[in-house]
Amino acid sequence: MCGIFGCVLKNGDAAPLIHAALKRLEYRGYDSVGEAIIHEGKLYVKKDAGKIDDVHALLNLDDLPGKIGIGHTRWATHGAPYKVNAHPHTDCKEELAVIHNGIIENFAELRKELEDRGHILRSKTDTEVIAHLIEEKLKEGLGLIDSVRKSITRLEGSYSIAVISAKEPDKIVCARNESPLVLGISEDAVFCASDIPAFLPLANKVVIVENGELVVLNHKGYEIRKLADWSLVSRQPKIIDWNPVMAEKQGYPHFMLKEIYEQPKTIRNTLRLQDQYLELMTAFLDRAGEVSLVACGTSYHACLAASYMFSKLAFLATHPIIASEFIEQHGRAVNIDSTILFVSQSGETTDTLAAVEHARLRAATVLGLTNVIGSTITRVARVYTCQQSGPEIGVAATKTFTSQLSVLAQLALRLAKKRGKVSHTEIEFLEEKLEQIPDVAEALLKTQSEKIRQLSKKYRDKGCFFFLGRGISYATALEGRLKLLEIAYIPSIAYPAGESKHGPISLIEPDFPVIFVCPKDGTHRTILSNIMEMKARGASIIAIIEEGDEEIKRFVDDYVEVPKGMPEILSPIVYVIPLQLFAYYMAIERELNPDMPRNLAKSVTVK
Ligand code: M6R
Repeated sequence: MCGIFGCVLKNGDAAPLIHAALKRLEYRGYDSVGEAIIHEGKLYVKKDAGKIDDVHALLNLDDLPGKIGIGHTRWATHGAPYKVNAHPHTDCKEELAVIHNGIIENFAELRKELEDRGHILRSKTDTEVIAHLIEEKLKEGLGLIDSVRKSITRLEGSYSIAVISAKEPDKIVCARNESPLVLGISEDAVFCASDIPAFLPLANKVVIVENGELVVLNHKGYEIRKLADWSLVSRQPKIIDWNPVMAEKQGYPHFMLKEIYEQPKTIRNTLRLQDQYLELMTAFLDRAGEVSLVACGTSYHACLAASYMFSKLAFLATHPIIASEFIEQHGRAVNIDSTILFVSQSGETTDTLAAVEHARLRAATVLGLTNVIGSTITRVARVYTCQQSGPEIGVAATKTFTSQLSVLAQLALRLAKKRGKVSHTEIEFLEEKLEQIPDVAEALLKTQSEKIRQLSKKYRDKGCFFFLGRGISYATALEGRLKLLEIAYIPSIAYPAGESKHGPISLIEPDFPVIFVCPKDGTHRTILSNIMEMKARGASIIAIIEEGDEEIKRFVDDYVEVPKGMPEILSPIVYVIPLQLFAYYMAIERELNPDMPRNLAKSVTVK
């Protein structure tokens, strides 16, 4: 995720302001911190790995003169969280500095091209290429604004950037494509930032920068231009009356809701993973006879869904295993031939790490999928890949689950391609559908949220819920159940729908709420029979269905519609979203704080 901030002041020093703003952006990342300031025609940079307070204790981030500067707090995506990878990044001569939030997809080609032309790149980041591209343009004799403008036409991917140069010490040039960028305006200063809280105590007039726009900040204020035709944009500031706590949540009442709504964006980021990581991981999966998928909680549900993906697409047998049971259940069977993929959002869950340690001691191949670069899993895994969801603050996993699924789906598709088990046409179709998921999620959130809120009012007093799904939707049902019980404290059960008649159906009495997850896939006909079984016993049925599924609509009490055309194998990424919202609104109805469920912690570091 990362947080960027920049300021042009009329009076006073920028450094203490940058430091304070970065503290307010720390929720966007905390792997490293850095600032660059221009003073008397010279560029000064301070940066290091670690949390802001630790770096400040070491470097004193407040102690730099100068009225113009930029700062960055990092959530590592490309390059480990080391000092050399901390932003700002500079050109060869260390005369200009760049900060960046986003992912430059073609950075490897650009890096090679720049190195061939003699540039020395010091870090492993995608961002550093931007500094050197701008340097090239400055060398050709262009000014800073034109150099930034020309350089960003070379970038593929997402970015919000801010650039300063000792050669033109009166301005900050920023630009945006997909990653957020806002301006703050006050009498004495102009600011740019990833997010409003960065400058909220200093300015409450806000201008949102749109995709494809470049902005120049100087003592006179701000000027916005469209990159496409260089036309001037006239956009007046809006007054924001958020208090600082509201601002951190971007106006949402809770982090959980904010994170649910972030999913179109976070899934898009996850679909931009670097080829080389996915390729390497696929190679390890390909050479394995079978693979164990080990995790806890929500990450385990991602593993369960993945087992359907790998088997159906790549004909690879995978075994989802709950981490805390791994050693007891499979410990002695682990050996040098075992391949185990450990999935952990935090990369620090003790039960998962105990299983990792056991696997390492028995010389198994340890693979990792995590959201936190620099976490223990990234240090001990033979190969790891990062899911790029940005920090998740709500204790309930939401956006990190859909990102885990998106990574695992990409791996299954690559493996399918490599093994030639399914047709090219089918793979291309699925790849296309995967690319569409961010838009589908956005449409779903737009059209169904209010309906789900109303459902939570209707069902708020129910004492128990039953979640059912068939095939891969069983994983979705389990995840919906976990969300509801962990944040709304409603004891709930989830089963594969086919298994429900082997015992749990005895619970059903009139009005007992049963939630069915029923995408229009190969299980549709059978799940309809399961709905009828429940209906016959008087259950109240809520179904998560594909838009326009009249067949199911006729038999259920309530339904939520998911946009048409989601293939079975990808369906959990979208069908879980209504269940996340349902759990959230149930917690609200029951006057509970969904961000801080009792007895739970974001990262469970005890056995
Ligand atoms: O960080 P991890 O993915 O290893 O965490 C695993 C579980 O502790 C986590 O998913 C937990 O179940 C969440 N509270 C679910 O919302």
